[in-house]
This record gives sequence, structure tokens and C-alpha cells, in this order.
Amino acid sequence: MIRISLRRRTLQCAALLACATLAVAAHAQPTGPIKVGLMLPTSGTFADLGKKVASGFKLYVTENGGKLAGRLVQYVELDDESDPSKANENANKLVKRDRVDVLIGTIHSGVAMTMARVARDTNTLMIVPNAGAAEITGSMCAPNVFRTSFSNWQPGYATGLLAARKHKTAVTISWKYAAGDESVRGFREGFEKGGGKVIKDLHLPFPNVEFQPLLTELATIKPEAAYVFVAGAGQVKFVKDYAAAGLKNSIPLYGAFITEGTLEAQGEAASGLQTALHYADGLKIPKNEAFITSYQKTYNAAPDVFAVQGYDAAQLFAAGLQAVKGDTRKKAEMIKAMEDAKLESPRGPLSFSKSRNPIQDMYARVATGNRNVMTDVIVKALADPSPDCKL
Ligand code: BEZ
Repeated sequence: MIRISLRRRTLQCAALLACATLAVAAHAQPTGPIKVGLMLPTSGTFADLGKKVASGFKLYVTENGGKLAGRLVQYVELDDESDPSKANENANKLVKRDRVDVLIGTIHSGVAMTMARVARDTNTLMIVPNAGAAEITGSMCAPNVFRTSFSNWQPGYATGLLAARKHKTAVTISWKYAAGDESVRGFREGFEKGGGKVIKDLHLPFPNVEFQPLLTELATIKPEAAYVFVAGAGQVKFVKDYAAAGLKNSIPLYGAFITEGTLEAQGEAASGLQTALHYADGLKIPKNEAFITSYQKTYNAAPDVFAVQGYDAAQLFAAGLQAVKGDTRKKAEMIKAMEDAKLESPRGPLSFSKSRNPIQDMYARVATGNRNVMTDVIVKALADPSPDCKL
């Protein structure tokens, strides 16, 4: 009898000890690798942009010994193909199957909007390193969804102000999806603020590159200037077609991204084109000079705005992680630190509005050789008004 109760006691103690050990383990700070879900295009018209964002992100991590806040970084990568119809399944794979700590993506606004919805519904931390869809930091804004790039309005608006310095009428050409529509809206606002008038908007479906009919129509309308939003591989063809159609000298072309990262491929057709963005080649900022050297050494290539946005996504994530010493369970504290972050970006000072969208300087640039050279600052510390974000 005594023997039985002693045995039972021993078993109870062992069970209690196991439970206690499990409880301690459950509350112990995670020390394993941090899982970063990179959902970016590696195929299609935005493949090169996706590659640059990933390169920028990884560069920051490599510079920090492959770790953030003392924890190793492990990547889970997925090609989103810039296809909105696959976005829900892809984002859910990273969040639910791979259980990533942060979702980084993407380039295409339509895909990013779905990702942001998944991030918001599952309370997963997300950083958008490019897509400018207004809704992400507007009506759909969420405490855990940040952006290190721009809202489509920002570069459109700055380019409108730039074009209005010299012209009174303009026609726009854009891909018909959220980014094109919002970029044109921003351009119109800036152009009209500067005293100009947009007289017609021309469209084609994403990622169509049959520009000829639109260029013929543009030549018939004869505005003083044109604004274009097409990006990635499409922008190379657009600029070449524009010059080949004989429009380059008669209707000056403006765009935000139209020469970004593609000047070598565009050649003489791009020479002298004026653009406005939150980055310019060779900005004389110590952080940028160090960034260019490091990027060049690692990838044997010059960085562009997409690489900067990826680098800053890693910097922003690191700011959150450092505040909690790598303890990703302290999400509210991480988010607060990210919201308050003041980053030293290669683009210049970078902070975030309440809606989690960048506040940043916008530069006027002119394509000279293989560089988008800064001429001046068009707007300092430009924030998206984000009136629909209620945080
Ligand atoms: C977008 O879809 O938001 C986008 C894509 C490429 C360049 C800029 C914006």
C-alpha cells in the first residue's frame, strides 16, 4: 500500500515537473532564427524590382552579421508573380504554414492590398517595401502594417509640381490599376496646384506594352507635356517607343519611376528626362555614400530606389526588434518603436506618419548618362494626408 502511494507520488511529481518545464519554455524568450517572409515577384514585368528590394533587405541583415537584435535571420521566399488572384493563397502560406514573424512585400499595389488584408486579419507584422496603394495606409490602415516606400500619390504629386514649373497643359498615360490611377491623381493635384491643367487621361491594361495607339493619340492632342506611369520592364519599352515616335523633343515626358534603375537599357532615348522621386543617384548624404559602397561591393551593381526601400524595411524591422531585445512576442512594444522610428535612410531622414506611411523629401532629377541626378528638392518632408486612416 505504502509502496503504491509512493509510486503515485513520484509519478505526480514527474508530471508536475514536466508541466512546469513546459510552462517555463512557453514563456521563455524565443532565441531561434527570426523568420522573414519575402513575398516579391521574381518573374514577370516587376521581377527586377523584386530582386532589388530583396537585395536591399538582405544587405542590411548581412551588414549586421546575418542577425537582427541578436537573432539569426531565416528567409522564406515566394514569387508572387505580381498576380493579385494568387495573393491571398500566397500570403496565407507564409503566415499560416511557414509562420513567419514578418511579411515583407510587395511591388504590385493589387497584390499588396490583399497581403495587407491577410496581415491585418491575422495580426501579422507587415512592411511594404514598394507598392504605393493608398488603401494600405488609408482606409485599410492597421497598427501592424507599415510602408517604407511611398503612397502612389507622393511621387505623382511631386512630379506634377515639377512639370508645372514649365508647362500649362498635360496628358497622362498609365496602366489601368490602383497604382496607375493613384499616381495620375497625385500628378493632377501637383500640376494643378502649380497652375497647369491635365486635359486627358489615356490608359492601357497592366502589364500591356502596346503603347503605339496611345502615342498616336497623344501626338494628335499636342499637350505641352506628358506624364506616364508604367514601371519595370514596361518602362524600358515605353521610353524607347516615345523617342522612336519622335515625341521626345516636341512633348516633354515626365514620370516618377520611368527612368529608375533602367537608364542603361533605355540608352539615349532616356537622356534628359525629368522625374521626381524620394531618391536620386549619388545623393551627397554620408549614409547614402556608405550604402552605395556596400551595395556595389556585395552585388557588383549600383543600387536604386527599390534597393533603398528594401534596405529601410530591414532597418525599420530592426528598430522594432531592438526595442524588445528580439522578443517578438512583445508585439505592441515593437509596433510602438517602429511607429516612432527616425531612420537614417540613404534617401535622407525617414520617419512615419500616424498611418505608417513615410514622411520624406522629394527630389527633382534629370537623366544624365546612367544616373538620375538630383537638381533640387521639390518638397521637403512630404507626408501623405491619408484622411481615411483612423488609427
Ligand atoms: C505599384 O504597383 O504600386 C507600383 C509598382 C511599381 C512601381 C511603383 C508602384
